[in-house]
Amino acid sequence: MKPVYIEMSAFGSYGGVETVDFSRKQEGLFLITGDTGAGKTTVFDAMMYALYGKTSGGERSGAMMRSHYAGKETKTYVRFVFSLQGEEYQITRNPEYQIEKTLKNGKVKQQKVAQGVELFLPDGTVFPGKKQETEERIREIIGLTGEQFSQMAMIAQGDFLKLLYAKTDERKKIFSHLFGTGIYVKIQEEFRQHAANIEKKLEENNQAFHQEFARTIAPCGYQAREDSGEYRSKLSILEDYLSFGKKKEKEIAAARTECQNEHQKIMDVIIRAKETEKLFDAWKKALSEQETLLGRQGEIGEMEKRLKRGEMAEKVRHSEENVRNVRKALEQKEKNAETLRAKDEILSQSMELSQNAVRWLFCRRQIYTLNLLSGELLICTEHRQQEEEKKAAWQKLVEESLAKREDYEKKYSVFLREQAGILAKGLSQGEPCPVCGSREHPRLANLSGEAVSQQEVEKARKIRDSAEEQREQAGQEYRLREQKARDIWQQFFIHVKEFFGEAFSEEESRDRILKEQEVLEKEAGEWEKSLRHAADWKGFLRDVKNGAKTCHGQEGISYFDKKTEEARERIQKMQGEISTNRGNLEAVESEENRLRRELEGQDTLFQRMRKEAGFESETQYRENLAEEKDREQWEEEIRSYQNQVNLKEGEVKGLLSQLRGKQQQDMEELQRQEKELSQRLKDMEEQHMGYHAANETNRKIQKNLISLEEESKALKRDAAVAESLSKTAGGRLTQSVKMDLETYVQRRYLKQIIAQANKRFIKMTDRQFMLSMKEDSAGKGKNEGLDLMVYAIPTGTLRDIRTLSGGESFLAALSLALGLSDIVMRQSGGIRLDMMFIDEGFGSLDEESRKKAIEVLRELSVGNRLIGIISHVTELKEQLDYKLCVTRNEKGSSVCWEIS
Ligand SMILES: Nc1ncnc2c1ncn2[C@@H]1O[C@H](COP(=O)(O)OP(=O)(O)OP(=O)(O)O)[C@@H](O)[C@H]1O
Ligand SMILES: [Mg+2]
Repeated sequence: MKPVYIEMSAFGSYGGVETVDFSRKQEGLFLITGDTGAGKTTVFDAMMYALYGKTSGGERSGAMMRSHYAGKETKTYVRFVFSLQGEEYQITRNPEYQIEKTLKNGKVKQQKVAQGVELFLPDGTVFPGKKQETEERIREIIGLTGEQFSQMAMIAQGDFLKLLYAKTDERKKIFSHLFGTGIYVKIQEEFRQHAANIEKKLEENNQAFHQEFARTIAPCGYQAREDSGEYRSKLSILEDYLSFGKKKEKEIAAARTECQNEHQKIMDVIIRAKETEKLFDAWKKALSEQETLLGRQGEIGEMEKRLKRGEMAEKVRHSEENVRNVRKALEQKEKNAETLRAKDEILSQSMELSQNAVRWLFCRRQIYTLNLLSGELLICTEHRQQEEEKKAAWQKLVEESLAKREDYEKKYSVFLREQAGILAKGLSQGEPCPVCGSREHPRLANLSGEAVSQQEVEKARKIRDSAEEQREQAGQEYRLREQKARDIWQQFFIHVKEFFGEAFSEEESRDRILKEQEVLEKEAGEWEKSLRHAADWKGFLRDVKNGAKTCHGQEGISYFDKKTEEARERIQKMQGEISTNRGNLEAVESEENRLRRELEGQDTLFQRMRKEAGFESETQYRENLAEEKDREQWEEEIRSYQNQVNLKEGEVKGLLSQLRGKQQQDMEELQRQEKELSQRLKDMEEQHMGYHAANETNRKIQKNLISLEEESKALKRDAAVAESLSKTAGGRLTQSVKMDLETYVQRRYLKQIIAQANKRFIKMTDRQFMLSMKEDSAGKGKNEGLDLMVYAIPTGTLRDIRTLSGGESFLAALSLALGLSDIVMRQSGGIRLDMMFIDEGFGSLDEESRKKAIEVLRELSVGNRLIGIISHVTELKEQLDYKLCVTRNEKGSSVCWEIS
């Protein structure tokens, strides 16, 4: 890591914004110089503050750094740019401070600025974490904590002695972080914990052993012996318990068998005595029960009589049952007959209605035919009228044609005469007449003086012809109409004859049709009335009427014929039903008569049987009727009673024969003896159980104790190894070096550091001194082993580091810092410390020493290392080319590079 650029604003002695560009000087030695209090250390502080939020010496806090020279509105911050492995990072940090702000209205407001830090990553982005995370990230980038950094890279003014004089425990902490020696502490702890665990297990084993032994049971009667408390002693006592216990268990088992036999014997006697006792009891009980049974004899006798009467009544009841069945069948038949009669009535009514329907249909058919005839009559009349009209027209035309003929003939004759007169006028006697050739003309025609032209004659002829033609036409039409009327009338009269059965004149026909229509309408009305009350016929009437409406001419007659046929078919069907029903009725009525006769016979039989069974009246007979289940119950009761009586008798006899020769015993005495033996047996049982249980328990405990003893032996072996390991690692071995593993490892590092440091120290002191580890105190305690000594080469003596002079101490500290820096970089590939700033210390050196030190540092700085020396020693200014000059005036400090 190397500084590239620093910007300080209102920081320490720097009142305004001051920048230092280190890019001009990236390797070698340079001097930061200036008067006392000029602001040199502040530059150094600014870098430390930017990186870690604290100043180089650690004495000045961030909050103190707000410059007193700062304008009231100037911001306080440090911006630090550094490079690391070819990449640049930038940190901007500010402490908490008060600032004055002038508002728009001119008023001045005090404002608190909160402390803050920002890390710009090489790609220019700001690290996104909060303050603590950002600081953690910076620490990760540098690879060192602030403390470590100040040990190696920024040796603060007055701090170098701390490096040298640090105690083992302080150095231990630093080394633990730097070299990660914490792992050895963990190993130590692991060993210690392992040993403690085994120790704990041993303790538990011991506790378990004694607790288990405490559960042992000393067999009753055993004489206690001496116990040293050792595992072996306890196990030997337990063996004694077991052999004594087993012996006692055997003895008691034998005595118990003997007692059991005796007890068995007395138990046999008791059982037999109890059996005799039971026999006596049973005999007495049977006698008493026999007596009770005999006491019920009267009651059972009554029951027998009742049963007998019941059985007689039962026989009669069968006959009565027959009477009842026949009556029931008769009633059923009567009911059937009734139903059939009712059905017959319904069918008959329906039949009548059907016939009425046929009659109605006939009327309707006739009316329809008469309507047709009326229609025909109307047509005939119309035809006659037309015929007469035609005739009148023709006659009129006949007269007109005669008139037209007359007119023509008249005109023609006039014309002819006029022509003769004209001819005669030109004729002379003897000249042939152009008409007749006669040469004589006796009577010559005279001119009439009426002028009729030939055109007029021709016109009259045409009119005549046309009139005659019209007349002929009308005459033909009239004849045709007349023929037609005649045919129609003829047809009508045929139909009238067909209907009425005789021929009538026109007038009479009209009259008869009207009258007949009237009569038929009335009759049809009557039939319709009777049918309208029956629902199914009502619909029929309506359907027929509607159907008829759609018919024309003869079609209607066929329609009525068809409907009549349908109704007739229904009548036929109904007739079949009526005759079937009547047949059934006849059969039922004959069965009815037969059943009536049978009923009479059965009733007579029943009365006779009742009397024969001894029942005076029907009431008496009924009183003795009994349910079958009752009779069965009585029968069962009587039978059971008899059985019981017989059995009891047999039982009493049997018990008497068993009791022959037997006597009752003193049961109380026998039971007392048995109780005594039982108690003895129980006691022995308990004793035996006691020894047995103790032996069993002791046997189990013995097994457990043996296994605990074995476990204890194994644990003791493990404990010895673990303890020795733990003591060795923790530096606690008796009669050995008292050094823990971590200190041992750290000493190895310190040795390497000292070796590196001595390379410079020997040179700087002109082969006067070298650093060494304090060996005599090493291994004598926890906080020993990392202390330093100095070896004076000329005298070959070792002395305390504190005996070095101020200048010598500075050189030693400088060497040590360089050594440390070398070893850290060697150990950890990630950490690059290419810079070192040393704040003062050179003042305590004489010229020679200073030269030597500078020489060493210059050597060190060759090869990409930047070393900054802060000093106001004047001679140094001449020795070093690059100088960062710090000056201060009443407005604060300022810096500038000076290169000579
Ligand atoms: N907050 C502050 N505002 C103003 N001046 C300050 C502030 N803090 C410290 N100073 C002063 O700044 C000056 C510079 O201190 P610095 O420690 O940098 O001096 P130096 O150049 O290292 O001196 P020396 O050679 O004695 O070590 C001192 O006079 C100190 O009293
Ligand atoms: Mg200073």
